[in-house]
Amino acid sequence: MGEIRRPDDMERITTPELAQKFIDEQEVLIREQVGNDKVLLALSGGVDSSVVAAMLIKAIGDQLVCVHVNHGLLRKGEPEQVIEVFRNQMKANLVYVDATDRFLDKLANVDDPETKRHIIGNEFIEVFADEARKLEGVKFLAQGTIWPDILESEKGIKAHHNAGGLPEDLQFELVEPVRILFKDEVRLVGKQLGLPDNMVYRQPFPGPGLGVRCPGAITRDRLEAVRESDAILREEFAKNGLEGKVWQYFTVVPDFKSTGIKDGARSFEWPVIIRAVNTRDAMTATVEHIPYDLMDHLAQRIPAEVKGVNRVLFDWTPKPTGTIEFE
Ligand code: XMP
Repeated sequence: MGEIRRPDDMERITTPELAQKFIDEQEVLIREQVGNDKVLLALSGGVDSSVVAAMLIKAIGDQLVCVHVNHGLLRKGEPEQVIEVFRNQMKANLVYVDATDRFLDKLANVDDPETKRHIIGNEFIEVFADEARKLEGVKFLAQGTIWPDILESEKGIKAHHNAGGLPEDLQFELVEPVRILFKDEVRLVGKQLGLPDNMVYRQPFPGPGLGVRCPGAITRDRLEAVRESDAILREEFAKNGLEGKVWQYFTVVPDFKSTGIKDGARSFEWPVIIRAVNTRDAMTATVEHIPYDLMDHLAQRIPAEVKGVNRVLFDWTPKPTGTIEFE
């Protein structure tokens, strides 16, 4: 399947009917390619791998083995949702690996952003490879490669490393059922396959996860403050109709403390920085205007509910001069 390209005259998938047609065609192709063999998939819970999982479950059922690696840097509720949707509802053959300690132990005291990314990427491959070696008879590896990934790697913009990096003894044939689709088409296909809206329409989330939103050396308590404040921000954006309107919104907890007052006593705690940006292609970004009342509410709620936090700041920086993420 490696060489398959999007035909120049392919009709853009814009309706449930076209999505269904694509799903039906792919189902036949997947069965043809895979036969009775087993397929392995790293299921992150992101849009692309979730849609690939749902397509393969439909086409080949329990010949698919999904591995969900929790690196401890996922958002609140994400691993639980992967288990609920894929294991409980779709009856997928799902291996859940809680590798939180493995990742956080390796990351302890590491403050260089690129070294952090490197450790997370390498460790991910190692955990996944460990799981793959426990399985027998796997011939294929499924991936959520999409058409822009192919175009960008051809132009040299992005090193496309979904499969890349697996050790020599683990070489599989690739199954890439959404390879010729644009992101909006992948979302429509996912919706048509019955995936929940908050999975299909979710905002982009970086591979190194909350790790790049906990700048400097990651500590478990500060990471927890990132996770909890992010959950509050997402809840409030959803309640206030901003979900789906803002490209990316998240919180960052920097590695410094300031003086404040909590429960009538002096507190020396972290600030939470809120970032909310809009962009077309993530190359440049503008800052989203957040209603004043919502900012006010967030400024009350976050320090009241998140342990170790006494201030709320708003990042008013476009890209450039800032990047979207902090690291
Ligand atoms: P920046 O921070 O470079 O981000 O303005 C642009 C977009 O890329 C995402 N991003 C990443 N995604 N691994 C990823 O998979 C990464 O290491 C990474 N760094 C940034 C970021 O969330 C934004 O959407």
